[in-house]
Amino acid sequence: MGSFADFHARSINDRDAFWAEQAKLVDWKVQPQQICDYSNPPFAKWFVGGQTNLCHNAVDRHLVDRADQPALIFVSTETDQEKTYTFRDLHAEVQRMAAILQDLGVVKGDRVLIYMPMIAEAAFAMLACVRLGAIHSVVFGGFASHSLATRIEDASPKVIISADAGSRGGKGVPYKPLLDEAINLSAHKPANVIMVDRKLAAFTPVASRDVDYATERAKHMDTVVPCEWVDATHSSYTLYTSGTTGKPKGVQRDTGGYTVALAASMPHIFQGKPGGTFFCTSDIGWVVGHSYIIYGPLIGGMATIMYEGLPIRPDGGIWWSLVEKYKVNVMFSAPTAIRVLKKQDPALLTKYDLSSLQALFLAGEPLDEPTAKWISEGLNGKAIIDNYWQTETGWPILSICNGVEKAPSKFGSPGKAIYGYNVKLVDDQTGEELTGANQKGVLTIEGPLPPGNLQTIWGDDERFVKTYWKTVPNKLVYSTFDWAVRDEDGYFFILGRTDDVINVAGHRLGTREIEESIASHPNVAEVAVVGVADALKGQVAMAFAVLKDPSKAGTPADALKHEGEIMKLVDEQLGAVARPARVRFVALLPKTRSGKLLRRAIQAVCEARDPGDLTTMDDPGALQQIKDLVTG
Ligand code: PRX
Repeated sequence: MGSFADFHARSINDRDAFWAEQAKLVDWKVQPQQICDYSNPPFAKWFVGGQTNLCHNAVDRHLVDRADQPALIFVSTETDQEKTYTFRDLHAEVQRMAAILQDLGVVKGDRVLIYMPMIAEAAFAMLACVRLGAIHSVVFGGFASHSLATRIEDASPKVIISADAGSRGGKGVPYKPLLDEAINLSAHKPANVIMVDRKLAAFTPVASRDVDYATERAKHMDTVVPCEWVDATHSSYTLYTSGTTGKPKGVQRDTGGYTVALAASMPHIFQGKPGGTFFCTSDIGWVVGHSYIIYGPLIGGMATIMYEGLPIRPDGGIWWSLVEKYKVNVMFSAPTAIRVLKKQDPALLTKYDLSSLQALFLAGEPLDEPTAKWISEGLNGKAIIDNYWQTETGWPILSICNGVEKAPSKFGSPGKAIYGYNVKLVDDQTGEELTGANQKGVLTIEGPLPPGNLQTIWGDDERFVKTYWKTVPNKLVYSTFDWAVRDEDGYFFILGRTDDVINVAGHRLGTREIEESIASHPNVAEVAVVGVADALKGQVAMAFAVLKDPSKAGTPADALKHEGEIMKLVDEQLGAVARPARVRFVALLPKTRSGKLLRRAIQAVCEARDPGDLTTMDDPGALQQIKDLVTG
């Protein structure tokens, strides 16, 4: 094992040689001719001239060595199902799904939108798309019709793959009515919808559009669908995420760079070995699910557990029982989930044999010290590895990389800049690089972004450039929109977003999207949504609205009724994940004299912090009113 510092330095200073070496971890139909083409910054093209296929690397190539080893372990505590698919089984199922897509006319470059719960068919669907070179766009099952409609419109899919229902706490949660409504709302209409019928919620298929998965699958039990070899730069998928404006961004990923980045992350970051088992508790609707439920572990020849259910049902030991049963080596979750488990009986942590487990990785939101300590002690000193990244990057930016060189963790820090990432802290006012220890700046990455990161925003190169990139003296840098400091040992500490993105239970949400939804209530004139610190969820959304006719919410009972209506509206349009914890009514909102909403001041007041310099504020009474409400 060499030193991590050397490994990192080589990835930056001898970039092409470094990544050429990592590229050997994957199968190529045609070897790349050029490792990185950065002739048109900030657009980086990786492994130019190479041809490969993501599904081949995740599934087919393992048939030689491990056809009969587990590949996908589907566990649902919602429907009491448990089924293991070997690489051979997975290969067959993916071809069946691919054959159905082919029958519906899906070819390379077409988009396919996937709106599904955490069931094995969702994994088949993703893998089938990339097998054909079709670009998938998975939409989180917790999103409702309005959110889904904007994504359908932007991705313009030829086909949508969905299911009758998800399930939560043992109760079916219908998907189909939300999907039908979303297609209604969208200007783009898919030609077909493939419906996986779990028999959890009755539905009426739309004639000539909806096809039944089971019926179509039965026609293709032995159909062979070869992998479509695509250029390394061919898009594998888009995944929508929130930003400053209300319109979600379609993060667009390539094929070759992503495959190499994930393949390299398995040994270097996760220490996952072929034949081992990976258990990531995220959802396929999020980036962590894409990279570490589906693609990363499978590319690395590991079995992956796909879990549908709650972390505390039937009890808070369910995840640990799966670790014992499937001899999980690497586990990946979010701090929120651990905070939920922390409320359960601590004996559940010692009830199972967890000797197979090497490390627990946590990401998506800040890992607070009490939670980190609790789980570290509960797991008897096993490595707890906080890692920091974004939908845009596809794989971690900051972590300790025990596969390269063992390093201690520091509570509250996701570790150091990972190989491939040339991280710079930048002063947001002057654009100067901050090189000293413990200086607060914006965490940026000097271009080119490493393999696996976003290529662009789907259909909007200009937005990609304008949103993320800026020139600081002599450098073009990508902004993460996160504040951070770096200590004298090179460990980073993340201090929150610089923009209007909030993080509720590890779910990234744009406050503008929530504001737009609330503003569609007929009696709402104006609204501000802020993220407020919460002991369990990290943050929750708080809304302050000015009503057109305040007399309609004059009494506490009427105000409560309005609040309920608004929450229902957000549930219906965006989904329960975006529902504010409270909606309070005020006579006016705090603004600057030029009319800019002072969201930071509102947030500070809600968190009982000093709101800072308010000299530009138009009417101090507005902030006082909010203060009275939250302290009253
Ligand atoms: O603010 C950072 C926070 O989550 C944002 C990215 O969210 P998303 O696109 O959903 O991707 C999550 C991938 C893990 C970041 O800009 N964030 C993510 N990980 C951490 C974090 N904040 C603190 N510590 C982390 N480990």
